Amino acid sequence: MECVEIRGGRSLCGQVEVQGSKNAVLPMLAASVLHAGISRIQGCPRIQDVYDMIELLEDLGCRVWWEGQCLAIDASRIRGWELPAQTASRMRSSVLFLGALLGRTGRARIPYPGGCVLGERPVDLHISAIKALGAQIEEDTRGIRARGRELRGCQVRLGFPSVGATENLILAAVLARGDTVIHNAAREPEVEELCLFLREKGARIRVCPQGRIEIRGVECLQDSRHTLAADRIVAGTYLLAAAVTRGRILLKGAPVRHMTGFLEPLAAMGIRMEKAGECLAADCRGKLQNIGFLQTMPYPGFPTDLQSPMMTLLAVTEGRSRIRENIFESRFKAAQELEKMGARIKIEGRDAVIDGVERLQGTRVEARELRGAAALLLAGLNAAGITRVRGCRFADRGYENFCENLAGLGADIRLIQ
Ligand code: UD1
Repeated sequence: MECVEIRGGRSLCGQVEVQGSKNAVLPMLAASVLHAGISRIQGCPRIQDVYDMIELLEDLGCRVWWEGQCLAIDASRIRGWELPAQTASRMRSSVLFLGALLGRTGRARIPYPGGCVLGERPVDLHISAIKALGAQIEEDTRGIRARGRELRGCQVRLGFPSVGATENLILAAVLARGDTVIHNAAREPEVEELCLFLREKGARIRVCPQGRIEIRGVECLQDSRHTLAADRIVAGTYLLAAAVTRGRILLKGAPVRHMTGFLEPLAAMGIRMEKAGECLAADCRGKLQNIGFLQTMPYPGFPTDLQSPMMTLLAVTEGRSRIRENIFESRFKAAQELEKMGARIKIEGRDAVIDGVERLQGTRVEARELRGAAALLLAGLNAAGITRVRGCRFADRGYENFCENLAGLGADIRLIQ
């Protein structure tokens, strides 16, 4: 099995260009089947989750090709409405084809989605939202089957502002008859960007304050070209990589406007940051303070996707910090591996209590999901001696050239068999 070997202790210093956003592009790829024509996405990241979505699109009969950094999808011909179980079960985002295929063909058959193991991750909100549009949905051991040739706009209040359920409902409502209003919709910037992508295709969608999204159904969509926003989670991960090595970094193209919930606690810890145009410079060489208490929240709060890499930083910051995970119940998987490296972390239900140590110790650890893999690679950058991270392939699901970029910042890191 492949693993990444890191000789820790080097302060990262330099600049990195932030890649296009994973969580924005995945729903767009599903959305492209709504249109019997071509959708182009400029700045699409070359990551495993995108490759898996491309496989699903091709299986449905779409033609997909790269034009440099631009991904083009021609969904003129769709062969069917059923996703192949093997590829679909690899990723959670495959569930977004439920709304998209239903909108395009009036039918969909989706295996239960897979993806990172972060607790239960049910799809009940997706199903009840799409049912409200008049679709008939049946579930069996193989997955979800939906029918609905005449979807009708309606008012839906989500019990929780789920990102995926909001996106699925938008996809199903774009070509439905009449008006749909979503209350308590997710406010993540990636949801807003999906709405922009669909508007560029001729959809009529308004994102209003207070989590309200209004959609007026249209007959059909048009060809489009969208330029993808930068990935706020990737930008945050590189910043944390600089912080765990007490280095300096310039993030080119960082979406600072959407990173406030993450940057505020880092500033409180003593990281000095300066925004210059489309760049964010961070200097982490001073003494850092622990954070006291931090909790993950829906946007604009601290993002759950940066909780594990943040835990690595707190594990090497003097004093006691407490992190509360409010979004996913099993998102402390990296903690156990960090402990093998000398971190002092106690899990108390939804809380992780972290007593910072001066430095971690290199050893063998294993990643089990995407952001946990990032957290362990960051730990290796800090640790004394050699760290070997198995399961490092999980990082490829969301980070483009992660190891190469870290090496470019001065890390001693390499992939070994
Ligand atoms: C998306 C992001 C993921 C991020 C998460 C929260 C993508 C591709 N993934 O995931 O990186 O961590 O938002 O910001 O954009 N829930 C239910 N029933 C449902 C749907 C969700 O109970 O039908 C629960 C989930 O189990 C979880 C919480 O709601 O506890 C949040 O999930 P959700 O916002 O839907 O996250 P995802 O869309 O899966």
